[in-house]
Amino acid sequence: SAAEKGGYTSFMLKEIAEQPRAVADTLLGRIDGSGALSLDEVRIPPKALREADKVVIVACGTAFHAGLIAKYAIEHWTRIPCEVELASEFRYRDPILDPQTLVIAISQSGETMDTLMALRHAREQGARVLAICNTNGSTVPRESDAVLYTHAGPEVAVASTKAFLTQLVACYLVALYLAQVRGTKYADEIRAVVRDLSSIARSVERVLETMEPVRELARALAHKKTVLFLGRHVGYPVALEGALKLKELAYMHAEGFAAGELKHGPIALIEDDLPVVVVVPSPRGRSVLHDKILSNIQEIRARGARTIVIAEEGDDEVVPYADHLIHVPATPTLLQPLVTTVPLQVFACELATARGNEVDQPRNLAKSVTVE
Ligand code: G6P
Repeated sequence: SAAEKGGYTSFMLKEIAEQPRAVADTLLGRIDGSGALSLDEVRIPPKALREADKVVIVACGTAFHAGLIAKYAIEHWTRIPCEVELASEFRYRDPILDPQTLVIAISQSGETMDTLMALRHAREQGARVLAICNTNGSTVPRESDAVLYTHAGPEVAVASTKAFLTQLVACYLVALYLAQVRGTKYADEIRAVVRDLSSIARSVERVLETMEPVRELARALAHKKTVLFLGRHVGYPVALEGALKLKELAYMHAEGFAAGELKHGPIALIEDDLPVVVVVPSPRGRSVLHDKILSNIQEIRARGARTIVIAEEGDDEVVPYADHLIHVPATPTLLQPLVTTVPLQVFACELATARGNEVDQPRNLAKSVTVE
């Protein structure tokens, strides 16, 4: 009913709007006044966390994209090798796991069959499993050694939005916690990131306040057959997520690529007026990434692409190459997916609506895939 949707026309719009709150709630009480992580709920002994020599993340769909982003944070801050795998692939091969492996299973519902079977398989090999889950008492956390709950609140729309942002927050918390327990040479950077996390909900809110041009653009592109998404580093999984959202909601051909792979194939797809969304990393810090993507944008634009550029406020260098520019607040690179994903959700939701699709219940999809 309209009341359940809190005045929004769909649950998806309501859930997109709830993201600042969901992010803040997921951080609540987990960082103490001194900036230290307090995650007692992660009931895996610190000794086991110190001895872990590998992290393996398993998940499906949007949760898998959260895992891909987590890998960048975990490997950078903790120097533990981290693999990310689709649960459906993981469970049917012969993965190498032992008691020193920390498996992280990410699932909004906690009921996805492939994720559940993957974690059972991991535990049979003696690995420890930490669940990141949004649904209290669901099967995935019940069968795991420990759980870090996301506090997104119930997510009703089939396409995941606020659960995804909170999965990212939980992944950052786990990465920072591992770094804290094990010691890290990035202590200063981590202190800064913890500070940035405390203002990130406000940044998400600011993105939401500036979405009207994105909605307009989505309506203008509603007749298109294909949209491509490019990103690098953590922007690459964001590109995959942007493409997944368009497939799920708009039933449109959409693909995400690592921008560095352009020359190995995707650039052959570029034709006149093809919309290409590019997620641009922050020009501060690791600016080499920024320079690389600038040349990628130039390459596709020279071949006729219509460039839709998501870039940090104040990033003037991208302006000459952007047919459409979407600004997000300045955010450290590793945390940037929390702000760059939001315009892509709004874009897909509006485009699907313009095409007359039912956004809360896309055809052929289920909120939780509890069968094979
Ligand atoms: C389905 C949903 C997706 C979700 C995926 C994984 O495909 O439509 O939105 O990302 O399942 O679900 P989970 O509950 O395990 O996160």
